[in-house]
Amino acid sequence: MARHDAFWLDEPTDYAQHGKLPRHIPAGPGPAVPGPLSITAATLDPGLLDLPWHVALEDWLARNLAALPRGLSRHTVRFARLGSAVIAVKETTGHAARHEYHMLRKLRRLDAPCVEPLAVVTGRTDAGGSPLAPALVTRHLKYSLPYRALFSQKLRRDTLTRLIDAQALLLVRLHLVGFYWGDVSLSNTLFRRDAEAFAAYLVDAETGELYPELSTGQREYDLEIGRVNIAGELMDLVEAGLIEDTVDPVATSEQIVDAYRGLWAELTRTDKLDAGERWRIDERIRRLNGLGFDVEEISLLATPDGTQLVLQPKVVDAGHHQRRLLRLAGLDVEERQARRLLNDIDAFRARRYPEADEDLAAALWVEETFRRITQAIPQELRGKLEPAQIVHEVLEHRWYISERRGANVPLAETVESYVEGVLRHRRDEAAIVLDPAAPAGVTDPPDRG
Ligand SMILES: Nc1ncnc2c1ncn2[C@@H]1O[C@H](COP(=O)(O)OP(=O)(O)O)[C@@H](O)[C@H]1O
Ligand SMILES: [Mg+2]
Repeated sequence: MARHDAFWLDEPTDYAQHGKLPRHIPAGPGPAVPGPLSITAATLDPGLLDLPWHVALEDWLARNLAALPRGLSRHTVRFARLGSAVIAVKETTGHAARHEYHMLRKLRRLDAPCVEPLAVVTGRTDAGGSPLAPALVTRHLKYSLPYRALFSQKLRRDTLTRLIDAQALLLVRLHLVGFYWGDVSLSNTLFRRDAEAFAAYLVDAETGELYPELSTGQREYDLEIGRVNIAGELMDLVEAGLIEDTVDPVATSEQIVDAYRGLWAELTRTDKLDAGERWRIDERIRRLNGLGFDVEEISLLATPDGTQLVLQPKVVDAGHHQRRLLRLAGLDVEERQARRLLNDIDAFRARRYPEADEDLAAALWVEETFRRITQAIPQELRGKLEPAQIVHEVLEHRWYISERRGANVPLAETVESYVEGVLRHRRDEAAIVLDPAAPAGVTDPPDRG
């Protein structure tokens, strides 16, 4: 049964009281010497050694845990504190933990959006010497939410559409780098707010495999798994009354197929051009950039009869605006947020510093707009949303109230109006209840992974 961390206060606050001795307490008689605990990590945070690896994850105490919203899972998963950071710990088999760890490392090297693997812990035994399940440790993805935490009462149809679009883009990005997921589902994905949309991250790579390139059959099979899983997840929501009545689970699940195929075709199709249509090369690149993708190379081949050229761009990665904003302003934000902020930098430059070059204008904008907004947010409200999302929403709010007033509202007044009228009334996204019957944090019945 689900338990909330806060409820644990009545319970033992010491692992020894649990009848399980921590490693460093000399054991009395009996086979209490722990097995050879082994932690494999690229860089080891010494704090990892202090976690109670000799206790089954289900029995970890509140003082080690962090109550954050968590999605459905097959294995036991808990969030734990590691210094000032939060980590996710999943108990699984040694083979699965190592496989997932390596998959996630490779995916991160390929710049694919996924959680960051930190360590594999094996050789765990309890105080009685009985073996405990190996664990995979990943870094908690800040400001991310499982799909079930994205709505307070009922999931709205348009929110669902945006989730599915984000999921389709994630799948395209994974397939472009040759990753076959094998268990595409909303439960295996984390979402972060990205302007008015969402950015999706892979969280569960257990069933994944990397190939030099995926065949159409492999891609289509993965897509079909995604469609079936999403249909099942939506049926569960319908059954629990957690989704707008107008949503048809099966028809909605087909949206991922359309969104995926549309995007894949746009990114990989070839164009035929006449010799005089060179401008279409530029147009194609701009279109791909507009979708957030960078182009590494363009190949142009003459058709066999020599009358036309075949244009084939090689798309390297999403994050076109993200990278541009990082370079210009040193801010690392999501793709749509970046596009929005880059537009604001352009407008700011035209309005205030038309003589400044782009880099200087960006630096001035960071001081005069971005930091002014984030610093004006009262401390107690800063955890509600990610800073870049707050800045995005303030800029939208300025547009909205200026339009109503028919005049430009100054920034300071906009921020105040946003804080009092909008932000203060937002739910605290870090403490969201996933299951209406249970409190936040540790809530999920074992279910599909
Ligand atoms: N690094 C992480 N950051 C945020 N949430 C995480 C992280 N790792 C796991 N989770 C949460 O735990 C849930 C279950 O993890 P998952 O890897 O899918 O387990 P399983 O293999 O049992 O399905 C996810 O849906 C997600 O909500
Ligand atoms: Mg899972």
